[in-house]
Formats: sequence, structure tokens, C-alpha cells
Amino acid sequence: MKLIIDTDPGIDDAMAIAYAAAAPEIDLIGLTTVFGNTHVHQSSRNARFLLHKLGLDAPVAEGAPLPVGATTYDPSEHVHGPEGFGDLTDIPQIGENHPLTAAEFLVEQAREHKGELVVCAIGPLTNVADAMRLDPEFAGNIKRLVIMGGAVFCPGNITEHAEANIYHDAQAADAVFASPPDTVLVGLDVTLKTLYETADFDALAARSADMGGFLRDISKFYLKFYKDIGGLEGCGLHDSTAVIACTHEPMFEIVETGLQVEVDGPQIGATRPEANRPMVRVCRDVDGAGVVNLFTDRVASLP
Ligand code: BDR
Ligand code: CA
Repeated sequence: MKLIIDTDPGIDDAMAIAYAAAAPEIDLIGLTTVFGNTHVHQSSRNARFLLHKLGLDAPVAEGAPLPVGATTYDPSEHVHGPEGFGDLTDIPQIGENHPLTAAEFLVEQAREHKGELVVCAIGPLTNVADAMRLDPEFAGNIKRLVIMGGAVFCPGNITEHAEANIYHDAQAADAVFASPPDTVLVGLDVTLKTLYETADFDALAARSADMGGFLRDISKFYLKFYKDIGGLEGCGLHDSTAVIACTHEPMFEIVETGLQVEVDGPQIGATRPEANRPMVRVCRDVDGAGVVNLFTDRVASLP
């Protein structure tokens, strides 16, 4: 499967990119970056560093620095650390970004691989909305959009009502759901059922010293956040679960509904069923243990 991951790496983004590199069904043809867990230039640097570490020669196209209509943005440093990778701060600049913007790259690749390309968006939806605006054919040219975002049947994580990726650009998300491509939404409804614990990271690092060890090390910061906010003993495999949904849809229980996003007010970022919108497929349940085991087995195959 030809895949582009639109990402804001980010600790769980790094896990998802490692998973994609290890999955035999996935041909990762590029990463596009967006603000979110970090500022966008940090996202791009981290993305290029990860691809280099994974031995992948795929381009990184940098995208939106800010949500639609915003002039400033505060990254989620308290969740992902000051540079996006927990306590790690000396992340080298490897290579350069692709000359196209993320939206231009998405449009170009969707035309080139018409009907074949899957886009997995694991950050705010700004780049996807930009690509849809840039090329009205974009939604029809891609095979599928798989989104990590939203909390349709459960509470949010950034507010009681909203999940972080949708909250960070509610207008972009609402624009995507107004005229969506073939879309699967992988929200907190399922990603909080895929908890990855300290013992899982240790087991992974024992089998994959370099990549598994790196993920275990950067995740310490993330695990501490989960413990501090909710007493949880593990972190959700949010972004990896979305990448797994690209190739393993039968692991999910899916319902069809239209979606609307609250774009202002105290419930900004809430994702609600809306009968008058086009249908998207929303994951309501998941084989959580299956996702955790698949993630470990695949990533453990990396050096
Ligand atoms: C999502 O928000 C980010 O912090 C994570 O990387 C993930 O994409 C989870 O709500
Ligand atoms: Ca992310």
C-alpha cells in the first residue's frame, strides 16, 4: 500500500513511523509535516531524523506552521517535550525538506498514484484541508484518508469535549468532514484501548536495541505525562493505531456516520455525529491486545 503519513513528531508519531517502516504491506512514499506536538520546523527536523535512523530514503515535505486563521501557536511541550522527543534535545538536522509544501506534495502524489494512495493524518488536519482546497480532485484521487483524531463516543483528552488533533485546527477538521474523501476516523474511542506500558517498551527494546531502545527512551517523558494526568500505567498507541487501521481494518468495529466539528465556543474541537453530512467510517471498538502485539512484533523486527 502506498502511504503518506501527515505528522507532527511527536513521541507516538515516532512510534507510528517506525511501525510503518517495519510493516511489509506499507510502501512509505513520504512524510508531510504539520505544527502540533511541536512547531512545524521541529516536526520536519524530527521526521527527517527518524527516516534517516530507519534507513528510509523518503522525502519530507513541510506543511502548515499554524492553524487556519491563527497567528500564534503553543506546542504541546508538556506532553512531548521541548523538541518533540521527550527528554532528548540534541536532535540533528539531517538533509533537507522537499521543495514542495506538504499540500502541494500531497496533491502531486495523489495525481501520480491516482486511486492507490492512502494518506494517514496523525496531526492536526490543516495540510489535508489545504490539499483539498488546492485541488478539488484531491479527495477523489486518493484511495483513502485515515485520521487519528476525534472522540465521538468518549470524552476528549485536551478538553472534556475535544481530542488534541481536532482541537488544534477545528476549522480544518470541519472542512474535511464537510466533503470528505473515503475516510476512516481512528479516535480516542479506540486508541485509549491500546495502552502500551513500561514493560511493553522494555520488551520491545530487548528485541530491537536501536529503534526499540530509542522509542523506549523518548517515551519515558510521555509515560510520565499519562501517569500524572490520569494515573494510567501506559500510553495510548494513538498514531500507530491509525497506521494499523490503514492495513488491518477488520481489527476494528466500525460505524458509519456524518461528522461535524464544533469550531468555536467552549466545546471547540468536539466531533459529533451529523446526519446531514457525508458518511465517514468511525472506529468504535478495537482488538486492543491485537494492535499492541502487532505493533511490538513489527517494530521488534527493526535493528
Ligand atoms: C494525538 O495528539 C497528539 O498529541 C498525538 O501525537 C496524537 O496524534 C492524540 O490525541
Ligand atoms: Ca501526532
